Amino acid sequence: MPVSFKEQRLTTYFRKIAPHYDLVNTLISFGLHHFWRRFAVEKANLHPGQQVLDVCCGTGLITKDLAQKVGPRGYVAGLDLSLPMLKIAAKNLRELSRSHRIQLVEGNAMDLPFPDNSFDRAVIGYGLRNVADMRQALRELYRVLKPGGRIVGLELGKPRYPLLNKLYALYSATFPPLVGLLLTGDKKPYLYLHRSVQAYPSPAQVSAIFGQIGFTAVQYYELSWGIATVHTGDKPGL
Ligand SMILES: C[S@@+](CC[C@H](N)C(=O)[O-])C[C@H]1O[C@@H](n2cnc3c(N)ncnc32)[C@H](O)[C@@H]1O
Repeated sequence: MPVSFKEQRLTTYFRKIAPHYDLVNTLISFGLHHFWRRFAVEKANLHPGQQVLDVCCGTGLITKDLAQKVGPRGYVAGLDLSLPMLKIAAKNLRELSRSHRIQLVEGNAMDLPFPDNSFDRAVIGYGLRNVADMRQALRELYRVLKPGGRIVGLELGKPRYPLLNKLYALYSATFPPLVGLLLTGDKKPYLYLHRSVQAYPSPAQVSAIFGQIGFTAVQYYELSWGIATVHTGDKPGL
């Protein structure tokens, strides 16, 4: 599959920010991203021994939580387009990989290198906003899930309340780019973050797309006044 302009630009951005990605996230979310991640992982409702895919795994924080849930008899594949992000993931997962089956794969969410019906769960953390075509990524996630499997999507969003929404827009246009500039030497990736969140569809619209792809029992949970959202859906068939 040819690499799109968006993928090229993101590859450049994530190469630049990879070494400081986790620290910047903690600073700009005031640590809330740890809570959002744990909430998303809980919604995956994992059992020991299950097979899980973490798409757009980045530095592997979600991958690590998933591996702990499925235990040493389970299997977790973390897939990402960015080699520098995967290298940080490998460091973050080094200790756990000694006892758990974790595989890191360089690949594209739009064309997953896995057979149909391979995974019990698929998680995509802050990835749907970044892929070139959200529908294509969701079709691929649906394809690789086993019948009865579940998708969990964690994404940033916008607060519902108008005043909070305005304040948040002002905050996200200024503070993250400043932190990004100070720690990574470039504010462009964090200006992109702001613009991409503003352009991202509402939770209800994203849920409708999940349904159009074929997921059932689609639900969403707004966290921290809507600054983050977790979507879940099941692949029918059991
Ligand atoms: C905002 S980071 C999220 C990382 C991680 N899931 C987390 O919770 O912190 C988005 C990740 O998606 C990856 N990405 C963007 N487009 C992708 C694609 N088409 N296929 C695979 N990975 C992609 C980027 O390289 C980056 O590591």
